[in-house]
Amino acid sequence: MTAMDADKVLVLDFGGQYTHLIARRVRDCGVYSEIVPGDSPADEICSRGPSALIFSGGPGNVYAGGAPRPDPDVFSLGLPILGICYGHQLIAAHFGGCGCVNRGRRGGYGRVNLQVDEPTDLFSGLPEQMEVWVSHGDVVEEVPESFVRLAGSESSAVAAMARPERRIYGVQFHPEVRHTSYGREILQNWLHRICGLSADWNMVSFVDEAVEQIRRQIGDGRAICGLSGGVDSSVAAALVHRAIGERLTCVFVDHGLHRRDEPELVRGMFAGHMDINLVSVDARERFLSALRGVTDPEEKRRRVGHEFISVFEEQARVLGDLRFLVQGTIYPDVVESGTGVSAVIKSHHNVGGLPERMELELVEPLRDLFKDEVRRVGEELGLTEDILWRHPFPGPGLAVRILGEVTEEKLAIARGADAIFEEEIRAADLYRDVWQSFAVVTDLRSVGVMGDDRTYGRTVMLRAVTSEDVMTAEWARLPDDVLDTAARRIVNEVRGVNRVAYDITSKPPGTIEWE
Ligand code: XMP
Repeated sequence: MTAMDADKVLVLDFGGQYTHLIARRVRDCGVYSEIVPGDSPADEICSRGPSALIFSGGPGNVYAGGAPRPDPDVFSLGLPILGICYGHQLIAAHFGGCGCVNRGRRGGYGRVNLQVDEPTDLFSGLPEQMEVWVSHGDVVEEVPESFVRLAGSESSAVAAMARPERRIYGVQFHPEVRHTSYGREILQNWLHRICGLSADWNMVSFVDEAVEQIRRQIGDGRAICGLSGGVDSSVAAALVHRAIGERLTCVFVDHGLHRRDEPELVRGMFAGHMDINLVSVDARERFLSALRGVTDPEEKRRRVGHEFISVFEEQARVLGDLRFLVQGTIYPDVVESGTGVSAVIKSHHNVGGLPERMELELVEPLRDLFKDEVRRVGEELGLTEDILWRHPFPGPGLAVRILGEVTEEKLAIARGADAIFEEEIRAADLYRDVWQSFAVVTDLRSVGVMGDDRTYGRTVMLRAVTSEDVMTAEWARLPDDVLDTAARRIVNEVRGVNRVAYDITSKPPGTIEWE
């Protein structure tokens, strides 16, 4: 069996809050999974060669005009289907017509008790009562003809139903959410027991398939890749390098907004580790002058993005005959930059924009993956721990960790404070437990006393978070002594700082970066 023949589950996205998690959990069960728009035409779905489909949740009402719906022909493809929440209601409405789904009659949010009627099949090997996570206003109240009810709950009379001979299933709750006690087992039952899919997908299959796909896309063309030294662009570069070798050129743009010693580190890592064509461009002056006087966060992002385009255009001209641009875009970047169904939080500079102006076709082999999956791909490709476990760093760099105007003085503070914080977290052996940690330079000044003198200096904000998939994050409960040592050292060693604060906001409502 080649990687191309591996089973694949397509998740049809109807705008659900947890769609990304569904695909993720399916992959965790050893079956490859990708997300596609919910209204994709049946022939397009077919052409992607899925073995099964999942309909995601979504905020709509299935009977409302304009509600997102699947192409009705999708039901005739003979593929197993699992509907989750809104997806469950879509199945009920398709097979049962009006009257099966009731709007807001009961609904529910949070944990509810599920009572299983049929402890076989989807619930095989599981207790007859379990806690599940729900988040819905509408409910399926009647089982469509030819379906059987499998379970009910406090929030919905038909919490699970099936038409076993057609392998069509629906659940009102969210098996992909950790709060559903047996969510993983329910998904495994559906994938393996009901759909007969084998759990043989892993990162080796991903690498094989991605390499084949990249070769098909690029053919005998040449590609350019912006390498920041972060995990995502490094893994994307390594993957494309494996596919097309020396026809890939990586460009490291030294924009002057990096962490301490980062440019040397990146150049060293790639020169020493992989036989990759790497061009390093010193663009510090132009980025800093583009940012002069700019204080608005989105404007900073826009200008940094713009400068990147210019540098790339120049490099592309120098290299000549390039048709492809490799980007380390990962799934959370896509979501946060807006998928059409979710709001734009921040315009990530590596998503959108570039190809239209540069007329380069995008190659984004990691677009469906989460950071920890990207790390596992990187391990497969033999990247070093230094690269793989480096905390994420935003594309616009320190420009979005310095509030207000970016100046040399604030850059020096950001680098100094960040390096100390990282050293202390590493010394406490917590670097891998924390998702991300960094210092933010604020425009706040306050009065302090050092020696016998009055000071009037800047406040540095330390931020450390834990996260599973970056979509949500908790502020990290770092030990007091780590914070204490970091704060003392920053005030003593970083010129111009006389106060250090620690950010205890989670995401949501905060975001991880401050801008
Ligand atoms: P927020 O601040 O949106 O950050 O919670 C989520 C994750 O994304 C990183 N980040 C970026 N990554 N380009 C990137 O490649 C960007 O423009 C960008 N902005 C934020 C951030 O560091 C965190 O890991």
